Amino acid sequence: REQEIKRQFEALEHSNRYFQDMLRSSSERERAIGYLKQRGLSGQIAAAFGIGYAPPGWDNLLQHFAHLENAAPLLEQSGMVIHNEDKQRYYDRFRDRIMFPIRDVRGRVLGFGGRVLGDDKPKYLNSPETPTFHKGRELYGLYEARKHSNQLERLLIVEGYMDVVSLAQHGIHWSVATLGTATTAQHLERLFKLVPEVIFCFDGDAAGRQAAQRALGVTLPVIRDGQEARFLFLPDGEDPDTLVRREGETAFSQRVSQALPLSEFFFRQLSDEADLSSMDGRARFSNQALPLIQSMQPSLLKQMMLDRICEITGLSLEQISSVIDLHQATST
Ligand code: GTP
Ligand code: MN
Ligand code: MN
Ligand code: MN
Ligand code: MN
Repeated sequence: REQEIKRQFEALEHSNRYFQDMLRSSSERERAIGYLKQRGLSGQIAAAFGIGYAPPGWDNLLQHFAHLENAAPLLEQSGMVIHNEDKQRYYDRFRDRIMFPIRDVRGRVLGFGGRVLGDDKPKYLNSPETPTFHKGRELYGLYEARKHSNQLERLLIVEGYMDVVSLAQHGIHWSVATLGTATTAQHLERLFKLVPEVIFCFDGDAAGRQAAQRALGVTLPVIRDGQEARFLFLPDGEDPDTLVRREGETAFSQRVSQALPLSEFFFRQLSDEADLSSMDGRARFSNQALPLIQSMQPSLLKQMMLDRICEITGLSLEQISSVIDLHQATST
């Protein structure tokens, strides 16, 4: 069993080296390198993230491993090839894609994200979940960020691989991306073990704003005194990649320093949704806010947010407590 896992890690590492070789030597290398250049990436940054290229064709990776015994099932377990049961054939999962290796904090390759060079669908293809690869746990770029600095003070949480790489290209080496999934409590708990501050920076579109709202709900039960979460909202149509390319590092850092503290986002969000000038609106506001506050760990921030709710609604803590048990933090 342990031996099997070791072989899988070796297969993933070997695949990664193959994809990086293909970026240098495949017959399609000019297209692949041209794509990375057109996205503003230098060879140095591409190398720092181990970015590679999976050439077109159904069995390039399979053929590369052909000298190994039982290569196909091994690659299948590693998520690199797909087994077609009907035709009794194996074929490469990633074809004609830019390959982003996803590493764990120890630097081991766990899987890949692969991007098409053009407008084909799906735009990104990710390795499947395997016994060693859990998307709700891993964060793209965390290994590289820690490698760049062993004294990280904060981390930016962005949506995409290209956001992380492009930010690094512009000198911001402290961002991580979730792997096409929502931010989980597990992600946050990992990050808060490493840094006291995280800043959510999702795309300036409807999906990004919804992701921020969801992240708020996930952060509240996790955050403790001494930790800070903030929210950076980008102009419509921008993501961290497009914005840092347009504005540069200084302007982008300026935005980061102005990101909304969690409590401000919380109250802004909820007051926007209710008419606080009417009693009914304030009741609606309380009914939305209190369960969220209830989910928080005991903390000074929780106390202050409760005080703020009292101010807004005119209710006393006793009145609130008679309706809802404020200390019933949901365990995570
Ligand atoms: P670029 O076009 O390369 O700049 O990608 P992006 O990261 O800006 O993509 P987008 O904002 O559309 O999506 C955000 C993230 O969602 C991506 O980085 C992926 O992780 C994920 N994602 C986007 N499209 C797909 C898709 O077609 N399939 C899967 N599985 N994930 C996707
Ligand atoms: Mn080989
Ligand atoms: Mn988007
Ligand atoms: Mn983008
Ligand atoms: Mn985007």
